[in-house]
Amino acid sequence: MTDTGRHQPALRLTRADLDALPNYVPGRSPADLARELGLDEAIKLASNEVPYGPLPGVVEAVTEAVTGSHRYPDMGVVALRRALADRYGVDAERIATGCGSVALAEHLVRATCLPGDELLYSWRSFEAYPIIAATSGATSVRVPNDAGHGHDLSAMAAAVTDRTRMVLVCNPNNPTGTVVRKAELDRFLDTVGEDVLVVLDEAYREFVTDPAVPDGLTYLDRPNVVVLRTLSKAWGLAGLRIGWMAASPEVAAAVRKVVTPFSTSLAAQAGALAALGQADEMRRRCALVVAERDRITEALRKLLPAVPSSQANFVWLPLGDRAVEFGRACEARGVIVRPFPGDGVRVTVGTPAENDAFLAVAESVLA
Ligand SMILES: Cc1ncc(COP(=O)(O)O)c(C=O)c1O
Repeated sequence: MTDTGRHQPALRLTRADLDALPNYVPGRSPADLARELGLDEAIKLASNEVPYGPLPGVVEAVTEAVTGSHRYPDMGVVALRRALADRYGVDAERIATGCGSVALAEHLVRATCLPGDELLYSWRSFEAYPIIAATSGATSVRVPNDAGHGHDLSAMAAAVTDRTRMVLVCNPNNPTGTVVRKAELDRFLDTVGEDVLVVLDEAYREFVTDPAVPDGLTYLDRPNVVVLRTLSKAWGLAGLRIGWMAASPEVAAAVRKVVTPFSTSLAAQAGALAALGQADEMRRRCALVVAERDRITEALRKLLPAVPSSQANFVWLPLGDRAVEFGRACEARGVIVRPFPGDGVRVTVGTPAENDAFLAVAESVLA
């Protein structure tokens, strides 16, 4: 091959349809922003992490595990799947793990959809869904959120066609924090055919306090239901990339076939095992987040009455066309939030001091 050092635009080596996908735009680094603004530190409330550091024992367990990092990890993820099985009362053969639950969502699409098959979800929801659909060749079918910013499950049921292979129900919904309750989910599952996989994405399950919101794991007697969970949020392991799913043994086995080999790393397996041993501390931290979430919601509603109730670790400001401007105003005052142009702004619940700083900015911008 000769390298002429010149680009030949006519020569296309990658798929043309990928041009339509947005490039990933990483969030602002708090360190860079602080330097730019001349502040001691900036506050990042943009990625739905819990602000209290790794759970006790996680750093030690990971440090110990990586002394063996010249070896591949256990590809069967046996110890971790057994620990998850024990904790959640689900057979280990129903469990698969992955490099974050986002990877498992991708694997599920890979395991269910051929090009042209339909992936159905509510919109606005988790930004990864359209990207996963597009990269797998599945057709995205988006059903608009209802007036309260949540899933319209009746409209979603009506949108199922004989090409629909998978439906994503994000509960609580990212980025709006809204929920689907048991009665409506029961009705939806009774309506959707048993040949359609219904994936309950419960990344924020640990922050749910409304007793009417069902635990997806109680639906596993339905073979077409899959539950996605992550250790990135409440369990504090976002940087280690570890998520898991529970499904029928057949679906779980199919996902384990399409998973990138060894993608649950040695460090992730060790960190997850240590974190799962700290459930009481995880719950204590979630309670702090929930109390702050409710405090922030109440304060924000005085400025913007349409703020919906959130059952996750973030709140949604339905600012429409003012979203980007609000995001910029926050950033100019050292607080990084997540604007969705033309739609709204998602703000992650931080420590009480971080939340106070954000509320001060919100008051000055919105009052
Ligand atoms: C709804 C939802 N699902 C899944 C994920 C992915 O989490 P992870 O890949 O870190 O497990 C996120 C992360 O933001 C999310 O909001």
